[in-house]
Parts: sequence; C-alpha cells; structure tokens
Amino acid sequence: MHLQNPALLQTRCYINGGWHETPQQFPVNNPADNTLLADVSDGGANETRRAIAAAKQALTGWKALTVNQRSAVLMRWYQLMMENQDDLATILSSEQGKPLVEAKGEIAYGASYVQWFAEEARRIEGDIIAPPSNDKRLMVIKQPVGVVASITPWNFPNAMLARKAAPALAAGCTFVAKPAAETPLSALALAVLAEQAGIPAGVFNVVCGSDAAAIGGAMTTSKDVAKLSFTGSTKVGKLLLSQCADTVKRTSMELGGNAPFIVFADADLDSAVAGLMASKFRNAGQTCVCTNRVLVEHTVLEPFTQKLIAAMQKLKVGSAFEEGVTIGPLIHASAKEKVARLVDQAVDAGASLLYQAKLDGSIGDNFFPPTLLTKAQPDMAICREEIFGPVIALQSFNEEAEAIAQANNTDAGLAAYFYSQSISRCWRVGETLDYGIVGINEGLISNAMAPFGGVKQSGFGREGSRYGLDDYLEIKYLCLGGLG
Ligand code: SIN
Repeated sequence: MHLQNPALLQTRCYINGGWHETPQQFPVNNPADNTLLADVSDGGANETRRAIAAAKQALTGWKALTVNQRSAVLMRWYQLMMENQDDLATILSSEQGKPLVEAKGEIAYGASYVQWFAEEARRIEGDIIAPPSNDKRLMVIKQPVGVVASITPWNFPNAMLARKAAPALAAGCTFVAKPAAETPLSALALAVLAEQAGIPAGVFNVVCGSDAAAIGGAMTTSKDVAKLSFTGSTKVGKLLLSQCADTVKRTSMELGGNAPFIVFADADLDSAVAGLMASKFRNAGQTCVCTNRVLVEHTVLEPFTQKLIAAMQKLKVGSAFEEGVTIGPLIHASAKEKVARLVDQAVDAGASLLYQAKLDGSIGDNFFPPTLLTKAQPDMAICREEIFGPVIALQSFNEEAEAIAQANNTDAGLAAYFYSQSISRCWRVGETLDYGIVGINEGLISNAMAPFGGVKQSGFGREGSRYGLDDYLEIKYLCLGGLG
C-alpha cells in the first residue's frame, strides 16, 4: 500500500494516547484478492478494560473544557482528515474493497460529521421552566453521558466511527471504539489524526480484535461505560441490548434495513433509474440504507426494466484501484455465498434472471456480478433478508395502497425510497411509510445535516443533524428553592 504519510498505517491498539502491542495478532486482508495487508494487534477484554479505565480518567478534564475548546480540537481533526483524504481512502479501499473514488467520498462524508459536530458543540443549550411557586426556579441543563463505547461495521469503516465519535466528543464524552475486525486500519488511522489534532490521551481509544464477543462483553458489562452506540445487524444489536440491560446502559442502535424502492407510473423513469443505481450499487450493495426491494407499477415495468438494464450494463466490476471501477468485491467469501444463495433460491421459487454481468475470469473470488431478477415475490428470502450485494429483484404492483402495504410489511424500518411526480402523492406516501428515512425522488439521502436512524427493528437514536447530540447528553433538572 503506497501512502504519502506512512505513519497513518498503524497496527496496534490505541489506548490512553499510546500504541499497544498484544501477544497475538490477527490478519487483515484485501477482499479484492485476499492478500495480507497487515497483522494487527488482537485486543480482547483486558485491552478493552484498560481503554475504558483511560476514558474514565480522561472524562473529568475533557468535559471541563469549554465548548469552544472542544470545538477547536474537533475542527482540527476534521481538517486533518481532509488533508489526508487520499491516504485515508487508500487505506479504506485496501481493507474494505470499495472503489477509490467512493472511498474518497466516504472520507469526506465521515469528516463532514466531525465538522458538523465541531459546530454543534457550541449549541448545547438548556431551559428555564416556569415554576409552580414563586420561591422556586426550575432549570434544565445538558451534560455529557460519560464514557461511550462504540461498535462499528466494516461497510463504512471511517464514516460510521466518525459519526459516533464526533457527537460524543462534542458533547464532552470520552470514547472507546471497537472497529470491525475486517477493517481496523481506517479506525487506527483516525486515531493517529486524533492525536495530531490535540485530542488528549484517553479521550479517544481504539481497541482492535478478532474476538468481538470478548470486546463487546467487556464494554456492555462495564459500569464505567454509560452508553453503547452500535451500528450493525439487528441480530447482534438485540444481543448487545440484552447485555446492556444489567447495567441499564443508554444505547443507540443503528441496525439492519430492508429498504423498498417504489416506482409509481407517474415517476420520471430516467431519474428513478438514476436514483436506484445510486442507492442500490453504492458500496456494491453493502449498505444498511441500500435499496433491497424494488416495486414497480405494472404499467411502467417494461420501460423501466429496459432503462435499468442499460444502466447496469455500464457498471464496471473490479478492484478499487482500477480506473473507472464502480463495483468492488464483497467483503469476504461468506458474504458472496449468502448473496448467491438468495439469488439461487429466488430463481428456484420462480423469479427470472434477466441480466447478469460477465466477470473477467482473472477476477478475485469475492466479486459478485451485478444481477437483475424479475418476478420476485414478497415472501421470497431475497425480499425479506438484507441482500448486501449488487442484486436487484423487481416486483410489480397494481395500485398505491398495495405498494405501501408491501413496503411496510417488514420488521425493518430504516430507509425507503419512492419516485412520483405527483406532489400530493409525495406527501401522502412520505407520511405513510413506516421508516426513519424516506427518499422522495432521491436515491442518496445521507448527509451530516440530516437525522440518520430507523424505527421498528432497525433501531433507535439519530446520528448527524441537530438531533444527533442528544444521544450523548443527559438532561439534568436543577430546582433552586428557598427564594422567599
Ligand atoms: C449504513 O450502511 O449503515 C450507513 C450508510 C450511510 O451512512 O449512508
């Protein structure tokens, strides 16, 4: 891996402002060709406990800083991320596989949360409440929740961590991060820049490791961790929630989705295709907010399908660093097996394989070709499970109520999309979909200014936006009495 600043490539845990070697290492591979990128320190429960102790100790000093001081440090962190955007993207693409252009976009996206919360840090405000009697004054202040632990996934190794760490630090909390074992190098590079930005020792810690249960267990059982913020599968989220019950921890859960993408007959079909391509194929389909089910009104199914095939034929599958590549590998062999199984099951159950890209024979094992199925049915596994791959399964519908009922017929509630040129339908459908995020005539909905998060079994809590700080602040009521 060629970096302009090789110091960004770290392989040890970052605890209390120092780099910690562990007796064991675990391998981090490039998913494009399974070559070894680095052996990384394999932290476990002990390292996690040390990081939590460091975060606890650092809390007093960090929360005592003025909001202007915290804001300035975060702004410096943001600037360093942008100054090192190319190197951070190279590290990210190497360990995660997404095309370099997309990785650069993720670095800017992650950094934008740090910039946003550096600004929001100055807007932590309380309240004065009218008292029930004149001898009292009632006040509300907001204070940092304390030590925050985070568990983040491999699909956005930079941005998911940045958008948890930034509001936590802005609020005055200290932080212990556990990045995914597939992609720890991006998190460690952020730690290098955190140190350079002047984030004090113990305020931001990174524990890497292959034993997620050991690290997660040390986080969830610790009384010193006030809050756990998790992005990942609904299954693991439920487990973490149950583990957090014993210490009554605050939690934020950004869990799996099953996003419907509805194309009504009155849609602009060209922009619907463009929106679907953006939503579906971002990160090779490995995104929680990715379109998972495509519902097309039957009268426009044929023209929509033809336009979609033409757009899919332009996708270029390859390794992150090849010119013009738009689809990288899936993260590992088992991810590819899962996508292949969903496609096979759908075809066995009556779906038709309408288009599948031909892959170069010399391509690595983890690549999956962009695939289009039609005649999918709501009860097929491909419509009920998160695909997490570059596969579209088309369903058709006859009327609006049917599309909405199908779209809402899932336990998930993260993101939904629809295309229509009728303003009244836009309001009606937007308000009726049971999702935390709805893209209306838009396939790309994520940005730092907007609240990101789900309903139902997609979790709770909001990341980004002016609501994002609330997840890291406690409300305290002060009652000043005896005013006579
Ligand atoms: C995710 O996959 O959970 C994050 C996607 C995004 O931030 O847009």
